[in-house]
Amino acid sequence: MATNWAPDSWQGYEARHLPEYLDTAALETATATLETHPPLVFAGEARALKADLADVAEGRAFLLQGGDCAESFAEFHPNNIRDTFRVLLQMAVVMTFASKKPVVKVGRMAGQFAKPRSSNTETQGSVTLPSYFGDNINGIEFDADSRTNDPQRMVRAYSQAAATLNLLRAFATGGYANLRQVHQWTLDFMGRSPWADRFSDIADRIGEALDFMEACGVDPQVLPQLQRTSFYTSHEALLLPYEQALTRRDSLTGDWYDTSAHMVWIGDRTRFENSAHIEFARGIGNPLGMKCGPSLETDALLKLLDTLNPAREPGRITLISRFGHDKVEDGLPRLVRAVKAEGHPVVWSCDPMHGNVVKSESGYKTRPFDRILREVKGFFAVHRAEGTHPGGIHIEMTGQDVTECVGGAVAITDEALKDRYHTHCDPRLNAAQSLELAFLIAEMLNEEHGVRQANAA
Ligand code: PEP
Ligand code: CO
Repeated sequence: MATNWAPDSWQGYEARHLPEYLDTAALETATATLETHPPLVFAGEARALKADLADVAEGRAFLLQGGDCAESFAEFHPNNIRDTFRVLLQMAVVMTFASKKPVVKVGRMAGQFAKPRSSNTETQGSVTLPSYFGDNINGIEFDADSRTNDPQRMVRAYSQAAATLNLLRAFATGGYANLRQVHQWTLDFMGRSPWADRFSDIADRIGEALDFMEACGVDPQVLPQLQRTSFYTSHEALLLPYEQALTRRDSLTGDWYDTSAHMVWIGDRTRFENSAHIEFARGIGNPLGMKCGPSLETDALLKLLDTLNPAREPGRITLISRFGHDKVEDGLPRLVRAVKAEGHPVVWSCDPMHGNVVKSESGYKTRPFDRILREVKGFFAVHRAEGTHPGGIHIEMTGQDVTECVGGAVAITDEALKDRYHTHCDPRLNAAQSLELAFLIAEMLNEEHGVRQANAA
């Protein structure tokens, strides 16, 4: 257990990207309310995810982490939760088949609200107001009232997270995740997709594998492993008053866990040495993610790893690189080499979203699909060259048919962005683009599998 640490010890450190609450009494009321609320996850579940991630670190499993950039009160609807969950399952099946490894599924869901912003203010015409910081902090509408930080929003976010998690648990274990069903959705989907031909071979082989299993008496209707799945939740642990209020001592081990999600991560802008966010994260037992962008120096990374994982526990740390399509092959190797030389057991995951944002001609913030794909390819190439495992991907996506990222086989054009641009923050892959990316990653995983087998022979 971390020494000299308490759930509130972060308050003595440098906190960036935290909202200022002018009404401190209202803040206390909100956090006191949250402190009386039940934990959203159980510490044992967080440990189970850590064990799964230890397998990823060893190259025995692959991590798929995805969901909204920012969940919102407005988009809260059972169909949205269902559709994102379904696409993540479809992606996982395709990737499991190709890699011949289990895929650990972690949603950016049930708590992913708070956002670090590049500017504290936003100006429209002659009016300047505070920026939008996420629905658990203030509102997206551009008026002074909505942009005022309101601590009660944390309580509403908690209740939305609880309802979301409840539905996810029901889907994961109640029969919705049946493998045959998930594959059928993929086939239905491909029937409508311009890229169906290219990937029909993989889809056919998955279908044949299921037919073969059934012929051998392995019935997805009956076998629990094929009926249900494990699904974990995660978000950026940015809003520390909320995270602190949900941090509880595990009655079994006596250790502290942040019970707001199974896994939490530290963003690229708050991962500096002595940051309040690092201080908070070092004391909780959950598996932790940390974003690694171009500004991260190797010495700083090694220090952070020593702080966050002094016992070098496998599965504890997932390093999520987000360099950009044109920087990953130059920037990532030095980090990978340093971590490997130090013997820190980490999961390397690729976030091909946050280094690839561009402003489109029509004025929307977008991410070109081909750049996303190029960053993933670069990530695989670096790990191949360094002899390390490309452990996972971290994406912003939705099960809805939005038009936020340009490109993909369905070819969302710049002019089409305005049609269904619904994100509360960064542009997300839509359902078709997510599945297409999964098939493309499947090809890379399949190649990895082939190389490993050849090396082992
Ligand atoms: C995010 O994941 O939404 C995010 C803000 O990423 P990063 O910290 O990598 O910029
Ligand atoms: Co984002």
